[in-house]
Amino acid sequence: MPSPYDSDPRLGELVVSQHELDVRVAELGRQITLDYAEHPPLLVGVLKGAFMFMSDLSRAIDLPVEFDFMAVASYGSTTRTSGVVRIVKDLELDLTGRHVLLVEDIIDSGLTLSYLRRTLLARDPASLAVCSLLVRDHYEVEDLDLAYVGFRIPSDFVVGYGLDVGERYRNLPFVCHLIAEPEVRR
Ligand code: IMP
Ligand code: MG
Repeated sequence: MPSPYDSDPRLGELVVSQHELDVRVAELGRQITLDYAEHPPLLVGVLKGAFMFMSDLSRAIDLPVEFDFMAVASYGSTTRTSGVVRIVKDLELDLTGRHVLLVEDIIDSGLTLSYLRRTLLARDPASLAVCSLLVRDHYEVEDLDLAYVGFRIPSDFVVGYGLDVGERYRNLPFVCHLIAEPEVRR
């Protein structure tokens, strides 16, 4: 069936297909199920980008997980970072003594991750690990201390599967490039 997005000139090359997402999310879910068998995690999703990944990932985890969400802002409505991270919506649950698994959509500059790690560790969880759907190629995953990574991708801006530009394209069931708009001439 043709999709209204088929003719969208802003959507570029496919980066991660729906099938690749299905397969990888199932693998991550199995791994997390094994790793957390003794102490089911509290999943902390970072809104809004991680909502779709968190939804699928949680269904691939065969444990009685709990959920909470927080929202931080590091980007405006454009594709450029503001360099500022602030909490827009805080967690509802107490993290003390909990095994927290932070679920992110993408690690780009790493600014949001380092801010979140500091903030969550200050709340005395029993453990804190990070699961990110996407991580830019230029990072050593070890340096970022990332336990679970879906895919490594190059630095081009992507949309779909939760990721947006100006709140659009989050509902695409795959991840693809966004074609940059030509610079406005002054
Ligand atoms: P960081 O703080 O630079 O690592 O950026 C993290 C946040 O920026 C992510 O959680 C996304 O919400 C957003 N972001 C970074 N790169 C992209 C992209 O390619 N597409 C959509 N959002 C992105
Ligand atoms: Mg995000």
